[in-house]
Amino acid sequence: MEVVIVPDSAAGGELIAEAMANLLRRKPDALLGVATGSTPLPIYEAFAAKVRAAAVDASQARICQLDEYVGLPSGHPESYRSVVLREVVEPLGLSESSFIGPDGTADDIAAACEEYDQALVAAGGVDLQLLGIGTDGHIGFNEPCSSLASRTRIKTLTQQTRKDNARFFDSIDDVPHHVITQGIGTILEARHLVLLATGEAKADAVALAVEGPLSALVPASALQLHPHATVVVDEAAASQLKLADYFRATFAAKPEWQGI
Ligand code: F6R
Repeated sequence: MEVVIVPDSAAGGELIAEAMANLLRRKPDALLGVATGSTPLPIYEAFAAKVRAAAVDASQARICQLDEYVGLPSGHPESYRSVVLREVVEPLGLSESSFIGPDGTADDIAAACEEYDQALVAAGGVDLQLLGIGTDGHIGFNEPCSSLASRTRIKTLTQQTRKDNARFFDSIDDVPHHVITQGIGTILEARHLVLLATGEAKADAVALAVEGPLSALVPASALQLHPHATVVVDEAAASQLKLADYFRATFAAKPEWQGI
């Protein structure tokens, strides 16, 4: 696992956007897995700016979703489908046909989960999966004690996650209890995992994920199993890392051509 400590969220967004651009220069129709929430917004802004400046051609890029609320009406502005269309697909000038995600409005949620896992395989697999991390260590919506081998399925949000996400709704009562999330096993099939964490509230979860034991109690620790996982953290989110100096020195000495 590579850990990169950046000064702030904008620098993290720029670093990751450049990695996405490099991927598209090699593979123009790469499948980019995107996360929602506040953390990845600087990535999407930096990436859209590169596209506008013609520094990269994203016209053949494909986008896929990590997770989705269950039970929000179709088109609800906070459904993750709406969020990804608004924050990623539209700013890149892509059409809805370049986007896949699980159907949180399906009558048969179990079938929708299975169909989504199959759709990811049929699309050739995710080339680069962006991840955030919950204050409780979740990735996607794999809450603590999720199976490390899990596939896309329905999960129940912890009260902590519902509180954390209440800012997107009128009140916590409006935050759904249930979600569809790519499983940890599904996430680990992506070719490159890139987790961005910013702010002090994420420091404990980051330290447990990066330096703690592999444990279902800290789902993000599953990144330790992946051959190409990059964790990008700002100084605040890095503040509990014992190996912070080593991570800084390693990145400073890295040849530029290597990227992340
Ligand atoms: C959302 C997702 C979640 C978030 C996490 C952090 O698609 O997968 O794991 O990344 O809850 O959310 P923020 O970035 O809002 O702190």
